[in-house]
Amino acid sequence: IRVAVIGGGQNCEHDVSVASAASVRQALDPARYEAVKLTIGRDGRWSGPDGQAFGTSASSSLAGALGVLATCDVALPLVHGPLGEDGALAALCELAGVAYVGSPPRAGALAMDKWATKLVAEAVGVPTAKAALVTAKSTVDYTGPVVVKPVAAGSSFGVALVEREEDLEPAVRRALELDDRVLVEEVLRGREIDIAVLDDPDEGRRTGPPLEIRVAGLFDTEVKYDGSAEFVIPAPLADTEVKALEHAALEVYEALGCRGLARVDFFLTEDGFVLNEVNTMPGMTAQSQVPKMFAATGLSYADLLDKLVRGATR
Ligand code: DAL
Ligand code: MG
Repeated sequence: IRVAVIGGGQNCEHDVSVASAASVRQALDPARYEAVKLTIGRDGRWSGPDGQAFGTSASSSLAGALGVLATCDVALPLVHGPLGEDGALAALCELAGVAYVGSPPRAGALAMDKWATKLVAEAVGVPTAKAALVTAKSTVDYTGPVVVKPVAAGSSFGVALVEREEDLEPAVRRALELDDRVLVEEVLRGREIDIAVLDDPDEGRRTGPPLEIRVAGLFDTEVKYDGSAEFVIPAPLADTEVKALEHAALEVYEALGCRGLARVDFFLTEDGFVLNEVNTMPGMTAQSQVPKMFAATGLSYADLLDKLVRGATR
């Protein structure tokens, strides 16, 4: 079974995705799968297994990439962020008639959009942080500490905790460099808990054990990848808290129309849990949250990938 493992991408999470893809290629069971490496450069040019670009422009290289994709049985799109996880790669696979792991275009697009995710989550009774949507035309008044984040980005790029009035405008400006829409959100104080949802081809849709992220300060871009964050699995929680989080994760997953896999991130505050965001293609290195969560239940990284691929080709 030939699996096109697609990594890279044209956004700030390019390197994160390259790491996810490299890790996945290595872990796919060679007895069952032939991993075919496809990479999208920062400039949008696709390159093949030998690292050579298929063409001198994004459009000319796409033709070569589609040629390779057509020889594969299934695609595993591991591009995080815009023009990947936002449904763009799922749409490409749909148009090319290639089976793929993960969410269909609509779910990817909705989940990538933190504003749309809030609206959907609130509609099914899952609380989210209060936020204002801001564009370059908006004026924002400082009323107290806020978190500023691009509506569509990942790995905390462009995210800032603003605690002084003079920092607000520069933070909004930096976030606007990554997206033309920005959220200015109330600050949530609490524990950070992630729940994975997996469409298991053997056991049906299910959640993984809750994972708690423990960091000294903020879980920002640097801390996300410097190895200093501690993951506690399962997060020490009361049964009722676990049930509530699992229920909320499944509700949001279903309401967005996700498929295959997603990591649903929450804050557990004094007033209960609050949805932070949904990642339809979360970090997938062996050290990332989702593989660690399932490993804690005895499902190896290779077996998790096997389930994902089998789920996509059923
Ligand atoms: N956006 C990164 C890859 C994550 O959520 O894991
Ligand atoms: Mg994310």
